[in-house]
Amino acid sequence: MKTISLLVITTALLSLNACSKDYSPSEKDTGESMYQTACVNCHKKDEKGMIFTLDRENSNVNYIKKRIAEGSMRMPKFPNINAEQAQQLGDYILKNSTVKN
Ligand code: HEC
Repeated sequence: MKTISLLVITTALLSLNACSKDYSPSEKDTGESMYQTACVNCHKKDEKGMIFTLDRENSNVNYIKKRIAEGSMRMPKFPNINAEQAQQLGDYILKNSTVKN
Protein backbone atom coordinates (compact mmCIF):
# COMPACT_ATOMS: atom_id res chain seq x y z
CA MET A 1 0.00 0.00 0.00
CA LYS A 2 2.76 2.39 0.96
CA THR A 3 4.64 1.53 -2.21
CA ILE A 4 1.58 2.22 -4.30
CA SER A 5 0.92 5.65 -2.85
CA LEU A 6 4.60 6.47 -3.18
CA LEU A 7 4.39 5.47 -6.82
CA VAL A 8 1.36 7.65 -7.34
CA ILE A 9 3.08 10.60 -5.71
CA THR A 10 6.25 10.07 -7.74
CA THR A 11 4.25 9.86 -10.94
CA ALA A 12 2.29 12.97 -10.06
CA LEU A 13 5.49 14.88 -9.29
CA LEU A 14 7.10 13.66 -12.47
CA SER A 15 4.24 14.82 -14.63
CA LEU A 16 4.15 18.14 -12.80
CA ASN A 17 7.81 18.85 -13.37
CA ALA A 18 8.23 16.76 -16.48
CA CYS A 19 11.78 16.45 -15.25
CA SER A 20 13.35 13.14 -16.10
CA LYS A 21 16.54 14.05 -14.26
CA ASP A 22 14.67 13.63 -11.00
CA TYR A 23 13.70 10.07 -11.74
CA SER A 24 15.95 7.59 -9.92
CA PRO A 25 14.77 4.00 -9.77
CA SER A 26 15.39 2.10 -6.55
CA GLU A 27 16.85 -1.36 -6.17
CA LYS A 28 13.36 -2.75 -5.81
CA ASP A 29 12.23 -1.46 -9.16
CA THR A 30 11.56 -3.86 -12.01
CA GLY A 31 11.43 -3.19 -15.72
CA GLU A 32 7.68 -2.93 -15.42
CA SER A 33 7.65 -0.53 -12.47
CA MET A 34 10.21 1.74 -14.16
CA TYR A 35 8.07 1.76 -17.28
CA GLN A 36 4.98 2.58 -15.20
CA THR A 37 6.72 5.45 -13.43
CA ALA A 38 8.97 6.99 -16.05
CA CYS A 39 7.66 6.07 -19.48
CA VAL A 40 3.93 5.36 -19.47
CA ASN A 41 2.90 9.02 -19.55
CA CYS A 42 4.32 9.35 -23.02
CA HIS A 43 4.30 5.69 -24.12
CA LYS A 44 1.00 4.01 -23.39
CA LYS A 45 0.28 0.45 -24.42
CA ASP A 46 -2.06 -0.04 -27.36
CA GLU A 47 -5.18 -2.20 -27.23
CA LYS A 48 -3.03 -5.29 -27.75
CA GLY A 49 -0.79 -4.37 -24.83
CA MET A 50 2.10 -3.30 -27.05
CA ILE A 51 4.24 -0.26 -26.26
CA PHE A 52 6.12 0.25 -29.54
CA THR A 53 6.10 -1.00 -33.08
CA LEU A 54 9.83 -0.90 -33.72
CA ASP A 55 11.79 -0.98 -36.95
CA ARG A 56 13.53 -4.33 -37.24
CA GLU A 57 17.00 -2.82 -36.84
CA ASN A 58 15.88 -1.05 -33.64
CA SER A 59 14.35 -4.09 -32.05
CA ASN A 60 17.14 -4.68 -29.54
CA VAL A 61 17.97 -3.68 -26.01
CA ASN A 62 20.93 -1.53 -27.01
CA TYR A 63 18.72 0.78 -29.06
CA ILE A 64 16.34 1.24 -26.12
CA LYS A 65 19.20 1.74 -23.67
CA LYS A 66 20.61 4.44 -25.92
CA ARG A 67 17.23 6.19 -26.00
CA ILE A 68 16.99 6.09 -22.21
CA ALA A 69 20.53 7.45 -21.79
CA GLU A 70 20.47 10.08 -24.55
CA GLY A 71 16.83 10.97 -25.17
CA SER A 72 16.05 12.75 -28.41
CA MET A 73 14.69 16.04 -29.70
CA ARG A 74 11.31 15.37 -28.12
CA MET A 75 12.16 12.79 -25.46
CA PRO A 76 14.00 13.61 -22.24
CA LYS A 77 17.00 11.55 -21.23
CA PHE A 78 17.12 9.61 -17.97
CA PRO A 79 20.62 10.04 -16.54
CA ASN A 80 19.80 8.26 -13.26
CA ILE A 81 18.74 4.97 -14.80
CA ASN A 82 21.95 2.95 -14.62
CA ALA A 83 23.10 0.36 -17.16
CA GLU A 84 21.71 -2.60 -15.25
CA GLN A 85 18.34 -0.92 -14.73
CA ALA A 86 18.23 0.16 -18.37
CA GLN A 87 18.84 -3.45 -19.33
CA GLN A 88 15.84 -4.58 -17.23
CA LEU A 89 13.67 -1.79 -18.56
CA GLY A 90 14.80 -2.50 -22.12
CA ASP A 91 13.97 -6.19 -21.74
CA TYR A 92 10.51 -5.30 -20.48
CA ILE A 93 9.91 -2.82 -23.31
CA LEU A 94 11.04 -5.34 -25.94
CA LYS A 95 8.86 -8.07 -24.49
CA ASN A 96 5.91 -5.70 -24.82
CA SER A 97 6.63 -4.32 -28.27
CA THR A 98 6.21 -5.60 -31.80
CA VAL A 99 8.37 -5.27 -34.88
CA LYS A 100 7.36 -3.66 -38.18
CA ASN A 101 7.05 -6.02 -41.12
C1 HEC B 1 7.97 13.40 -22.09
C2 HEC B 1 7.60 12.30 -22.94
C3 HEC B 1 8.46 11.05 -22.96
C4 HEC B 1 8.85 10.27 -21.90
C5 HEC B 1 8.61 10.50 -20.42
C6 HEC B 1 9.53 9.13 -22.48
N1 HEC B 1 9.56 9.25 -23.84
FE1 HEC B 1 10.31 7.85 -25.14
N2 HEC B 1 9.79 9.07 -26.71
C7 HEC B 1 9.09 10.26 -26.61
C8 HEC B 1 8.79 10.74 -27.94
C9 HEC B 1 8.02 12.03 -28.25
C10 HEC B 1 9.31 9.79 -28.85
C11 HEC B 1 9.21 9.79 -30.38
C12 HEC B 1 9.91 10.92 -31.01
C13 HEC B 1 11.37 10.70 -31.05
O1 HEC B 1 11.79 9.65 -31.52
O2 HEC B 1 12.07 11.60 -30.64
C14 HEC B 1 9.95 8.76 -28.04
C15 HEC B 1 10.59 7.64 -28.57
C16 HEC B 1 11.06 6.57 -27.82
C17 HEC B 1 11.66 5.38 -28.37
C18 HEC B 1 11.87 5.07 -29.85
C19 HEC B 1 10.70 4.28 -30.36
C20 HEC B 1 10.84 3.88 -31.82
O3 HEC B 1 9.78 3.66 -32.44
O4 HEC B 1 11.95 3.79 -32.35
C21 HEC B 1 11.99 4.56 -27.33
C22 HEC B 1 12.62 3.18 -27.39
C23 HEC B 1 11.59 5.26 -26.12
N3 HEC B 1 11.02 6.47 -26.45
C24 HEC B 1 11.75 4.75 -24.85
C25 HEC B 1 11.36 5.41 -23.68
C26 HEC B 1 11.55 4.86 -22.36
C27 HEC B 1 12.17 3.50 -22.05
C28 HEC B 1 11.07 5.80 -21.48
C29 HEC B 1 11.05 5.73 -19.97
C30 HEC B 1 12.32 5.60 -19.30
C31 HEC B 1 10.59 6.93 -22.26
N4 HEC B 1 10.78 6.65 -23.58
C32 HEC B 1 10.04 8.08 -21.73
C33 HEC B 1 8.73 10.89 -25.45
C34 HEC B 1 8.92 10.41 -24.17
